[in-house]
Amino acid sequence: MSEALAVIILAAGKGTRMKSDLPKVMHKVAGRTMLGHVIGVARELNPQKIIVVVSPDSQQIVKESKGCLIAIQQEQLGTGDAVKAATELLKDFEGNILILYGDSPLITSASLAKLLEKPLKNEIRIFGFEASNPAKYGRLITSKNTVREVIEFKDANEIQKKITLCNSGIYYLPCPLLVKLITQIRNDNSQKEYYLTDLIKIGWKNAVETSYLPIHENEISGVNDKIELARAEGVMQKRLHKKALEDGVTLLCSATIFMSVDTKFGRDVTIRQHVVIGENVTIGDNVTIGPFAHIRPDTVISNNVSVGNFVEIKKSNIGEGSKINHLSYIGDSTLGTNVNIGAGTITCNYDGFDKYETHIGDNVFVGSNSALIAPVKLGDNAMIAAGSVISKDVAPGALGIARSLQKNLADWAMRFRKNKKK
Ligand code: UD1
Ligand code: CA
Repeated sequence: MSEALAVIILAAGKGTRMKSDLPKVMHKVAGRTMLGHVIGVARELNPQKIIVVVSPDSQQIVKESKGCLIAIQQEQLGTGDAVKAATELLKDFEGNILILYGDSPLITSASLAKLLEKPLKNEIRIFGFEASNPAKYGRLITSKNTVREVIEFKDANEIQKKITLCNSGIYYLPCPLLVKLITQIRNDNSQKEYYLTDLIKIGWKNAVETSYLPIHENEISGVNDKIELARAEGVMQKRLHKKALEDGVTLLCSATIFMSVDTKFGRDVTIRQHVVIGENVTIGDNVTIGPFAHIRPDTVISNNVSVGNFVEIKKSNIGEGSKINHLSYIGDSTLGTNVNIGAGTITCNYDGFDKYETHIGDNVFVGSNSALIAPVKLGDNAMIAAGSVISKDVAPGALGIARSLQKNLADWAMRFRKNKKK
């Protein structure tokens, strides 16, 4: 892998089959956009540059491609045309090119490293996979380990459609070879598209061999519609669960636990049933979460914390040893150490326009059913009486109580019942 590498990621397709206004590659798997996954994997290979091919007016995709070069494909004339747009930025590049599709988020850097392992000669290397349902994938026409051609589903005859060895959409070849072959692609096919896959057939005619490395379909599945998106999510979640279990996390009924791709766990963590964890969440040692908890993005949960049922936490920092055990919303907040949040406590962080912060010191006890109206600070060792609506800061060691005083009317209930019974 010492040769210089550039990665091209195709993300200009229309994504019609998603039936969505959101560009296809912006749909998320395990809390991250599909494009974000592909860029992340590409980065792990330390390429000299990453070029993302986008259609005009796709600001969202450009924003998601931070740190990458952008090539604009003016019209969506097919994958071959998209790569051609990228080669405009590669005219003087002598290294190798890895082409990835932005709608295939399951590929791992470990597999790509295998594709890139041996030095590349004047050749093309791709991945082929045995598809359990070959559906609309391009079929590999092979002789021995050499691929002579990729036939797109729509151009395949009945015999070719029976082939189950399919094209992954990942290609590795020297840049000068790519630049030479790409201009020879024509659109004389059923879809009138410039197919990138024609590189292989054109290569064959020019005595350039294409070999394929087998790969499991769970790394390859392209996402073209919501069914495939759901399937990709399933594969990714299983992968994240396995990794967490290998790292020693206890998962009670993992099938009901949703993780993000970057969730970080400490030692002796237990995640109970039906827990959803958003992006950028860090969980410390000896933490228990759930059942039925929602840990939203940008949250840090320190050691020895317990988060119980029907608790939602967003963009908050929960200090060591704190407990939020029942029916609470904690948002835009910091909690010190050993805080106890009573059942039904809500941080009121939003006034319909802006978000405000709640800061809770060490050893604070918040009584049940309290509303903490942000911005507000509770000093160390303070207590909040149950049922309070707290809108002013509470000094360290003080009691904050904000509820109407209780009145007891002697014998009132007795009289009431007596009157009713008459
Ligand atoms: C493609 C392959 C097929 C392979 C499958 C694997 C071609 C012609 N076919 O089919 O052999 O089995 O992927 O998933 O390549 N894109 C652009 N510009 C365009 C068209 C597409 O950037 O003009 C991008 C899309 O955003 C997408 C990727 O290229 O990320 C693949 O395009 P898509 O239309 O999904 O190709 P498939 O029909 O899935
Ligand atoms: Ca696709």
